[in-house]
Amino acid sequence: MQLSLEKNRAIVTGASSGIGEGIARALAAAGASIIVNYRSDRESAERIASEIRETGGRAEPVQADVSKPEDCEKLFDAADRLFGGVDIVVANAGIQRDAAFTDLSLEDWRKVIDVNLTGQFLCAQEAIRRFRQQGIDRDRSPALGKVIFTNSVHQEIPWAGHANYATAKGGLKLLMETMAQELACEKIRVNAIAPGAIKTDINRDAWEDEEARRKLLELIPYQRIGEPEDVGQAAVWLASDASDYVVGTTLFVDGGMMLYPGFRKGG
Ligand code: BGC
Repeated sequence: MQLSLEKNRAIVTGASSGIGEGIARALAAAGASIIVNYRSDRESAERIASEIRETGGRAEPVQADVSKPEDCEKLFDAADRLFGGVDIVVANAGIQRDAAFTDLSLEDWRKVIDVNLTGQFLCAQEAIRRFRQQGIDRDRSPALGKVIFTNSVHQEIPWAGHANYATAKGGLKLLMETMAQELACEKIRVNAIAPGAIKTDINRDAWEDEEARRKLLELIPYQRIGEPEDVGQAAVWLASDASDYVVGTTLFVDGGMMLYPGFRKGG
């Protein structure tokens, strides 16, 4: 099945690298116009947007720190100005600041909660307000709008040494589900993608050297580390009307990481 996002306009936060970049490129390849949001890496966001344009797509880089409400507004104003509105919002921006529990500073606790949980909340809240202002356009979609959160297998799997990250992701799961329950009656679809180990800069330590890679593969039944494109393809489906009846779901894109691989032999 060929999925088309023609006529759709999407904001992807944290799109200047990693999973966000993969999602932005995949949505663009399916025909959507993309706001490529970045916080600090302007060069990379500009490169991604211009590569999308070179292949016939529409994309514009826009700076915003999603943990700041005024920046989120700026992001949506840019979508209005450049594309006349927004239909798909992928709240993706996320960071890690890892430390053993008793070494975790209040600053790093706050930073991760601010970006990975509050940032997603702010961006989603602004998305819903804009969807309502725009109103439904049945030529474009049976939905008023779609929000997709990038979550993680760590919305379920506890993660020693990453209490701030796992807490934010666990909170994000219930934010997504609560929003989905509250907003489905307005034809707003809220869902999440939960990637496992995807080869990006955020987890370079886990795949760069051979020993780390071997250990990581023990956690992945499908025996390969994921690529940003794997997540991008899932995002295209969730953003398209092919998934019109999918509401409040988390789609795991993890090569089976959620299947307790340790139990293949034990138990
Ligand atoms: C983290 C990665 C990690 C993966 C699987 C992701 O949410 O950002 O660093 O490799 O989960 O543990």
